[in-house]
Amino acid sequence: MSTVNRQWLLKRRPAGHLNEGDFEYREAPIPSDDLKPGEILVRNVGFLCAPTMRNWMDPPSKSLYPSIPLGQPIMAPGVARVTASQADGIKAGDRVLGLSSWQDYAVLSGGGLRRPTLIPDGIDFLEGIGRYGLNPMTAYFGLLDVGAAVSGETLVVSGAAGSTGSTAAQIGKIKGMKVIGIAGGKSKCAWLTNECGIDAAIDYKSEDVAARIAQLCPAGIDVFYDNVGGEILQAAIDNMAPKGRIVLCGQIASYDTAETAEGLRNMMRLIYGSIRMQGFLCGNYADRFNEAVNNLKAWTAAGKINYREDLRTGFENLPKSFSALFDGSNAGTLLVQIDDSAKETR
Ligand SMILES: NC(=O)c1ccc[n+]([C@@H]2O[C@H](COP(=O)([O-])OP(=O)(O)OC[C@H]3O[C@@H](n4cnc5c(N)ncnc54)[C@H](OP(=O)(O)O)[C@@H]3O)[C@@H](O)[C@H]2O)c1
Repeated sequence: MSTVNRQWLLKRRPAGHLNEGDFEYREAPIPSDDLKPGEILVRNVGFLCAPTMRNWMDPPSKSLYPSIPLGQPIMAPGVARVTASQADGIKAGDRVLGLSSWQDYAVLSGGGLRRPTLIPDGIDFLEGIGRYGLNPMTAYFGLLDVGAAVSGETLVVSGAAGSTGSTAAQIGKIKGMKVIGIAGGKSKCAWLTNECGIDAAIDYKSEDVAARIAQLCPAGIDVFYDNVGGEILQAAIDNMAPKGRIVLCGQIASYDTAETAEGLRNMMRLIYGSIRMQGFLCGNYADRFNEAVNNLKAWTAAGKINYREDLRTGFENLPKSFSALFDGSNAGTLLVQIDDSAKETR
């Protein structure tokens, strides 16, 4: 058993694009199991590379999200084995999904959105953070609850070939919608139409997104599921149908840059069209995670969800692996496994 706690710390705040020098590797003692009420000590098994972690590396802002203090481990959604617990409902030996950090051992605490949840038996650690993890659950609640998706409507998804987007697009098909995805590059677009079975894909790197949306959605967009923001969100706003819903899931176009996103235009269309635009966090639905997992499992068993995972290994590679999210080189849900127990199911 290891006697050191490997850590990746935030050394400095990124100036624009992420840089290797923004991170510092350190070996620290394993934290004590002398815990305060509500805390648990965990051995991390794997991490989800979540794009919003890049926002957490910025200074504190008015945006409601947390800011990682300089010199502290990088906060990250993770799956872990509990080694000691002072939290109600969680005991040593349990497997949890929660907001952890880039280190072998971490003390997790907190209620609300930061509350760790148990991984159901029968699902291994990687499935708990990947196939049935935060991104597919985000897509599930975002499309069905926030987007109030209805059969026969037209759904457009940005970031459609990614982890969250590809699930949202395929749930749209399961619910009987016409689905159009927006993604970067011919190969991602071909995967969406050929393998995921959506109706059409727009390559934002080589096509005029607004013109293609207008062509493919002559009666307008009923639900726009947005992972990107910026000019892609603007193109959707300009093409929304009356009574449409815009699901603000993410704004990845503005995460890994020092530039401030431009303001949105044509907002009167939302007023005259009675169009709803709403942000949300997956964690808002923690009480319903089991419902999402059960539905995702059933759709997977029926061959209705094409899931793509980009699994990387090696604690030492965490910063490099994470940066793949921002140049589009990740092929599906980007996970980093740091422990051999990742396939354990209970
Ligand atoms: N609200 C929530 O609770 C919640 C939860 C999970 C995720 N999210 C959000 O969902 C979005 C997707 O996250 P994910 O984890 O599923 O990642 P992902 O989509 O699997 O990977 C990120 C993808 O974003 C695209 N991208 C990167 N930079 C871009 C840019 N400047 N313009 C357009 N596209 C860009 C790239 O795809 P291309 O090759 O197609 O460009 C990249 O592969 C993020 O915005 C994230 O913050 C929100």
